[in-house]
Amino acid sequence: MKRRLQKKYLILILAYSGLLLLVPYVLDYRDKPVERARHGFTQQQPRCPDLERTVALLWDNGEKVNGSRTAASAVNQSQPRVHIYVHATWRTGSSFFGELFNQHPDVFYLYEPMWHIWQALYPGDGESLQGAVRDMMSALYRCDFSVLKLYAGSQNVTTSFVFGWKMNKVICSEPLCNVHKRHEIGLVNESKCSKCQKRDIRELERECKKYPVIVIKGVRILDLSTLVPLVKDPTVNLKIIQLFRDPRAVHNSRLKSKQALVKESIQVLRSKKQDEKYKRLLVPNKTNRVDSYVSGAMELICDNWLNDLMLIKNSPPWLTSNYLRMRYEDLVLQPLEELRKLYHFSNLSSSPALEAFALNMTHGRGYSSEKPFQISSRDAKEAIYAWRERLSVDQISQATRSPWLRGLVFRAEGTRWNKKTSNWNVVHWDLATMDLGCFASAEPGQ
Ligand SMILES: *[C@@H]1O[C@H](CO)[C@@H](O)[C@H](O)[C@H]1NC(C)=O
Ligand SMILES: *[C@@H]1O[C@H](CO)[C@@H](O)[C@H](O)[C@H]1NC(C)=O
Ligand SMILES: *[C@@H]1O[C@H](CO)[C@@H](O)[C@H](O)[C@H]1NC(C)=O
Ligand SMILES: *[C@@H]1O[C@H](CO)[C@@H](O)[C@H](O)[C@H]1NC(C)=O
Ligand SMILES: *[C@@H]1O[C@H](CO)[C@@H](O)[C@H](O)[C@H]1NC(C)=O
Ligand SMILES: *[C@@H]1O[C@H](CO)[C@@H](O)[C@H](O)[C@H]1NC(C)=O
Ligand SMILES: *[C@@H]1O[C@H](CO)[C@@H](O)[C@H](O)[C@H]1NC(C)=O
Repeated sequence: MKRRLQKKYLILILAYSGLLLLVPYVLDYRDKPVERARHGFTQQQPRCPDLERTVALLWDNGEKVNGSRTAASAVNQSQPRVHIYVHATWRTGSSFFGELFNQHPDVFYLYEPMWHIWQALYPGDGESLQGAVRDMMSALYRCDFSVLKLYAGSQNVTTSFVFGWKMNKVICSEPLCNVHKRHEIGLVNESKCSKCQKRDIRELERECKKYPVIVIKGVRILDLSTLVPLVKDPTVNLKIIQLFRDPRAVHNSRLKSKQALVKESIQVLRSKKQDEKYKRLLVPNKTNRVDSYVSGAMELICDNWLNDLMLIKNSPPWLTSNYLRMRYEDLVLQPLEELRKLYHFSNLSSSPALEAFALNMTHGRGYSSEKPFQISSRDAKEAIYAWRERLSVDQISQATRSPWLRGLVFRAEGTRWNKKTSNWNVVHWDLATMDLGCFASAEPGQ
């Protein structure tokens, strides 16, 4: 009797599962003809409606496409454009760093455009997605923004689709919008810019082509070697600025904004290179899961940093001459020197207004803003050393299984952090001691 009942339930469950699978299928196929018909009527292009989804065809803006290049996108050989990628990772101060380019009147700046790829392809693993990320970069450097349509889910892409558009100096300035003047230095007022009329993305393309320097800031290239083909490619001629920051401070900042970073941490952790990827994602203790993802991803990021440093150390001059390494700590402690270095590398000239801006941003009050991803004036020194007060022994010991985090713990284990005696006595972090931060096997106190 009991058996029969169980069987009944089993059949019921199977039937229900089948139904669940069937429903989306039916919905999918029932909707398609309707959608086609609608498209056909509204856009009056009843022929081959599926071709509408072909980006390249729709992108033909009346310009004859012959040979490999349209007239408008031809590179102006008399003045080659400078293409720069700010190679950073989460919570390294890269928003502020990028802002130094966003403010420069000769720069067309894009903040994390590759965010769209990760969103659209979640939970695709970060490492494999690097191919798509690089592809998008190479299109954007040519001011070909049609690539954004691939991830927009719509053909009607406007400036408001661009990630971070409300802070973008070009989108919020004349001629696209009149709330700012492009040559005036100062943060964009987001609430004002959000009222700007949304422009067709092609108008942004046209603006892009006017600029001698294009800068893209991103965190989704995990591995510098991925970019080498773009450095080699004479039409892109990429220059790379890599931004580093004390890994302990990065870790602290990541834990502070862990909820916002958890999805991306999972994508980093799913990277194919990691044999342990499934183990890392299966954390038995639910309460620790978020922390564990965010810390685990940091471990991988540290790995990648070390790889990048080794790659550059062993690179031929054609690569090293197109590569600049910067530390967040230097930037906030000596903003003027670093700013000049940065602009010189980027073939840009500095100006008193830009220097004043950099000074202002690093000499504010407090070390952090309320909103974790907002750019604002900070107290630089506090920002640098905040981790020493905030990274609690508990937070660290949660993840002691990872070697680099063990390194962080080396002084704190068994004791409480003491501000006065400064047990964390590695005050001055530099790249030479990075493996101390990442993989500290060194003796405490060095
Ligand atoms: C491209 O078009 C121009 C005229 O618009 C023509 O002179 C030229 O020969 C064409 N090039 C090729 C490769 O078809
Ligand atoms: C190319 O650059 C020169 C000099 O800056 C400029 O005069 C010319 O108009 C530019 N040509 C195009 C097609 O943008
Ligand atoms: C750098 O800028 C100058 C003008 O300021 C320009 O003549 C030169 O071609 C630029 N260099 C590169 C590599 O674009
Ligand atoms: C931004 O502009 C609004 C008016 O649109 C103003 O109320 C606000 O104070 C401005 N914010 C800043 C930071 O200047
Ligand atoms: C596309 O965007 C424009 C604004 O640029 C808007 O006027 C138009 O209605 C949009 N079309 C659709 C189908 O959403
Ligand atoms: C899970 O984590 C919580 C909070 O950190 C801790 O109190 C609890 O003992 C942990 N449980 C297990 C099974 O590790
Ligand atoms: C930075 O700029 C803001 C707004 O212009 C101003 O209120 C503030 O006093 C400046 N801070 C410093 C340290 O210059």
